[in-house]
Amino acid sequence: MDGNGRWAQRRWLPRAAGHREGIAVLTPLLEAAGRAGVQALTLYAFSTENWKRPPNEVKTLMRLFIETARKKVPELNERGARLRFVGRNEGLPERVLEALREAEELTAHNDRLDVYIALNYGGRAEIVDAARRMMEDGLPPEAVDEEAFARYLYAPEAPEVDLVIRTSGELRVSNFLLWQIAYAEFYVTETLWPDFSAEEFTRALEAFASRSRRRGGA
Ligand code: IPE
Ligand code: MG
Repeated sequence: MDGNGRWAQRRWLPRAAGHREGIAVLTPLLEAAGRAGVQALTLYAFSTENWKRPPNEVKTLMRLFIETARKKVPELNERGARLRFVGRNEGLPERVLEALREAEELTAHNDRLDVYIALNYGGRAEIVDAARRMMEDGLPPEAVDEEAFARYLYAPEAPEVDLVIRTSGELRVSNFLLWQIAYAEFYVTETLWPDFSAEEFTRALEAFASRSRRRGGA
């Protein structure tokens, strides 16, 4: 969800205003995803690298995560979304972890759309964490293959990623789902995240549907 800061700067507003506006996008977007029959969707909310931002912005973001969980989760629950947190616990304030846990518990039985919130998430961190837990479990080297490895990712039940949507025109992966995007299609748009809409999401799905995926085949 990139481009909140630039959206605000262009309006002479503080960056926090961009983050707030970015949250307003979520309801129509998740509705569109549900309607389109999307099975799972991951929102990249905060990366393991985002701690490098000024302390005030980090604080504002943490506050917004808690506030958004309180405000949006009941509504998402009614619409049948199952929320799951992916990321490292260490470093996140207890109140954020608590809000995430509550959201997971409240929505655990829903099955319309799986929404993964990537928070304090890094693709490399996820791979390292998986390797650590495999070693803790004492897996012998010959037991480690791609399937076994994937079972140690943060959300082993999640389907393979089909499509990555990158807003604000950046042409990089930024440590997002490194393992899972091996064969993902990319949709890059200049649109800044607060301006991203259900209509554009639908256009991204259409663009995806028109591509031919060979996955290394001929
Ligand atoms: C994305 O918007 C929000 C988070 C990473 C939390 P940015 O804050 O990265 O917006 P830009 O890149 O400065 O425009
Ligand atoms: Mg950015």
